[in-house]
Amino acid sequence: MFNAYFQQLDSLLFQSRHLWQIQPFHHQDILWQNISVQVDAKRGQLEPQITLAQALDQLSDKQLLELQQDVHKLANWLTPWFPEAPLLITLNQQLLPSNPSTKPNLKQANKLSTPIQTLPIESAELKRFAQGIPGRKWQQMRYFSLQFNQMMIHVDNLSTVSAQDFTKTQDQPVDKTTQVLEWCAGKGHLGRLIAFEQQLGGQESWDKPSQDKPSENKQSYQITSLEWQQSLCEKGQQQAEKYQLPQNFIHDDAFSEAAGQLLTEDTHAIALHACGDLHCQLIYHVSQQKAKSVLIAPCCYHLIRSERYYPLSKQAQQSDIQLSKQDLKIPLQETVTGGQRIGNLRDIELHWRMAFDELQREQQQCNQYQPLPTLPKNLLTGEFKYFIHWAVENRQLNIAVDKLNLDLYLEKGQQRVQQIRRMELVQHLFRRPLELWLILDRAMALEETGFHVELTEFCQKSLTPRNILIKAYRP
Ligand SMILES: C[S@@+](CC[C@H](N)C(=O)[O-])C[C@H]1O[C@@H](n2cnc3c(N)ncnc32)[C@H](O)[C@@H]1O
Repeated sequence: MFNAYFQQLDSLLFQSRHLWQIQPFHHQDILWQNISVQVDAKRGQLEPQITLAQALDQLSDKQLLELQQDVHKLANWLTPWFPEAPLLITLNQQLLPSNPSTKPNLKQANKLSTPIQTLPIESAELKRFAQGIPGRKWQQMRYFSLQFNQMMIHVDNLSTVSAQDFTKTQDQPVDKTTQVLEWCAGKGHLGRLIAFEQQLGGQESWDKPSQDKPSENKQSYQITSLEWQQSLCEKGQQQAEKYQLPQNFIHDDAFSEAAGQLLTEDTHAIALHACGDLHCQLIYHVSQQKAKSVLIAPCCYHLIRSERYYPLSKQAQQSDIQLSKQDLKIPLQETVTGGQRIGNLRDIELHWRMAFDELQREQQQCNQYQPLPTLPKNLLTGEFKYFIHWAVENRQLNIAVDKLNLDLYLEKGQQRVQQIRRMELVQHLFRRPLELWLILDRAMALEETGFHVELTEFCQKSLTPRNILIKAYRP
């Protein structure tokens, strides 16, 4: 079902790779000095020959911010240099119509995905249960669990219908235990919520589509939560016992053979924000074991064991696009959470890193970007000179920092930041499309092994930028 979309997206991304497959930190000037505007075919005349680099350079900070905040405006602005920009946005909307009231083409879009749903009102029991769980995580989990429960009703109805087809006599409700495997569970908050809601008697207040009424079968969940960190397993197990919920933690490595054996044909697997290879491993297992269903909200695409990305699906394996770990970080660059203070610290960090890069290039007379590792937390709240001392020492450079005019490098660093922000603006247009390319690869891999797959934005981006859910079940 997704192949035609993938093909179109793949060819757009391949032809525009010079605009997104870049590392802005590495350049001292804005790229794209030679990309001039296209001939205006309708008017049959040339637009003024302004290059993309010049146009970016001329953007005021206010204009920059406006374009950063509105991807539609950004696509229009970029059109003279990349005429397919609006098409990229249209493809996004067709695949993930997050806000149906403002999006065109929904007839077509709804065939592929469903929009974000409204959460049912939180009962007093749920409010008590939420204590100790960070606010955004709690909301993400509620949206995820809503998707899970609705899918289970649908899957349950499917299996009831097919069972009746064979027996014709089934008029007694059946008691059954459903195996749910929570992959890379952390403290298992999600599994615990699903078990708790089940104990409360399901969420009867949902608006259920008429064809998705629950069957008469009595269903209970047995949750198995796999997690690598022992301390999280222990904390999660304590909570499950406190609420007397059927949830067991397994302390193991998701890449171990034993972890694969946790899946059977009866398993429904869930994974909220399991990173790169971890959720790919789950896709491998559900496909091998022919599990019943799987719900994955992927994150951290770059956390993979190989040096470059190896696609999962046959179609993506044919693509000419080659992705490095660095490229896999592009979808994650959009930071919409964290608050003002964190945002300010991020700005200081980029400024100081670039000031250091200017300093080391000049002092060592070398024209190569010098990366720095993760900084000690307190360094950014101190003075710039301490940061530079740390950086020079960390890179083992022979530079007499005290003799330098550090203000000069701060100034140069600020110019670099301005340029980086402008190059990142162009890259910004491609973040979601590139993420969709990766999501479609996963969706097609699941389809290839017989799953029916749906894609959805399960919650608002303000709760988590990684809000795409892959929902797959055996039809
Ligand atoms: C981003 S957290 C998500 C946790 C939880 N699902 C949530 O949404 O809160 C990823 C979890 O995967 C676990 N993890 C990392 N590597 C793992 C491995 N090899 N096997 C099992 N779990 C692993 C981490 O310890 C962490 O708890």
